[in-house]
Amino acid sequence: MNNMDFCPERDGFVSVDPYKLTDLNPFSKIGKEWMLITAKDDKNGANAMTASWGGVGVLWNKPVAFCFVRPQRYTFGLTETQDTVSLCFLGEEYRHTHKIFGSESGRDTAKISKAGVSLKFEGDTPVITESNTVLIGRKLYCDYLRDASFTDTEVRDKCYPEKDYHRVYVYEIVAAYIRKQ
Ligand SMILES: Cc1cc2nc3c(=O)[nH]c(=O)nc-3n(C[C@H](O)[C@H](O)[C@H](O)COP(=O)(O)O)c2cc1C
Repeated sequence: MNNMDFCPERDGFVSVDPYKLTDLNPFSKIGKEWMLITAKDDKNGANAMTASWGGVGVLWNKPVAFCFVRPQRYTFGLTETQDTVSLCFLGEEYRHTHKIFGSESGRDTAKISKAGVSLKFEGDTPVITESNTVLIGRKLYCDYLRDASFTDTEVRDKCYPEKDYHRVYVYEIVAAYIRKQ
């Protein structure tokens, strides 16, 4: 093991059965705290993108997380090619880093080092070790949202004036870690 390897115990985390996560209200955790879709990137080691649309639940008898990535994001090329991502939740004390993660692009900036947070790897999956919660996701399914499939065209036209429909990714939550108190 080298010091880039994520070691939950040493890095201050405990592993939790996803079904037993109690502090993962998706409305507050994803919608208000926001998550970082963090994926391996040959250029910068890894890239992370702020996301506030998504959810967690059960699908195909598995614990899953799903998220939505617009095709123009640098992250899109990574979620397309990588089998896994981590969904990292940084908490209020790192709110300021979302100015970087949520508005700059991995195309131009090594965002993780610019934000001053630390990166480790669980196998091929990058983890930001300042997180309070980390979900490791293995891609099960992806597809574009489709123009013709919207049953509410007002939502469609408001969210997609450029018709840049998100691609939805469903990830099996293969591991979940929470920061030790
Ligand atoms: C609060 C917030 C939530 C966001 N949620 C999403 C999202 O769910 N899906 C998405 O594609 N972009 C979302 N974005 C936009 C991306 O985070 C942003 O475009 C980012 O710069 C993309 O980085 P990248 O080019 O390195 O992938 C969000 C931005 C913010 C500030």
